[in-house]
Amino acid sequence: MSDDGLSRRQYLSTVGGTAVTVSLAGCFGGGGGDGSTEITAGTAPGFPPFEMKQDGELVGFDIDLLEAVIDETDYTLAGWEEYEFKSLIPALTNENIDVVAAGMTINDERDQTIDFTDPYYSSNQAIVVREDGDFAPSSLSDLAGRPIGAQKGTTGETTVQDELISPGNLDESNYNSYGNYVLAVEDLQNGNIDAVVIDEPVAQTFAAQRPVTIAFTYETGENFGFGVRDGDDEFTQALNDGLSTVRDGSTYQDLTNKWFGQQ
Ligand code: ARG
Repeated sequence: MSDDGLSRRQYLSTVGGTAVTVSLAGCFGGGGGDGSTEITAGTAPGFPPFEMKQDGELVGFDIDLLEAVIDETDYTLAGWEEYEFKSLIPALTNENIDVVAAGMTINDERDQTIDFTDPYYSSNQAIVVREDGDFAPSSLSDLAGRPIGAQKGTTGETTVQDELISPGNLDESNYNSYGNYVLAVEDLQNGNIDAVVIDEPVAQTFAAQRPVTIAFTYETGENFGFGVRDGDDEFTQALNDGLSTVRDGSTYQDLTNKWFGQQ
């Protein structure tokens, strides 16, 4: 969290004094011009249509949704920081960012380190292959012996690990871990790997934009939530209230139409 460029630590040492430190503990260091608390959001672009770069600009469903949610709260968004997906939780716990909006699946493992808001989107995993290829798997076991890929630190990677590598259906050396899913899909297009395991709505977007297609889906019943720090309960509550306001009005539906098409 920043206060006009000062980190919280710098801010505390600039202001000094135990009383000030205590009054800031448990809330956020930054202040908006109107007296509201400034927060910084983190994401990992390359995950369309949730977050991606368009002409150098960060855009997507998560970007619009979190901004709409924050608009409903007393907090102000200072800005967005971009990370590799696997670095988002460390960035959150280190207080480099205050909230994660990155199509992040709520799960028990992550819940031990951070907290989540209420869910805002559901997903399964999809297995993406080349459109013009002759490889047409219909179940995970068909991926045996094939070079496949996913993004580092994602639930797609966990699916590969838990459902293929651990049971001995895929050799570890066949699995390629990418810093982002765009690189994985490019490697698929180039023929370096034969399949990518990725969240279904993102697979649909890649399939609409590139010569790749969904071979089959693997049901995981995932829910995306915004990631928040453990113990930032007031902020989490504010985001949940904002989210339900945005869902009750037309904003959520409008954003869904904008980024996923009419449905
Ligand atoms: N839903 C998956 C997960 O939580 C993938 C998220 C990837 N997000 C991204 N912005 N690259 O692990």
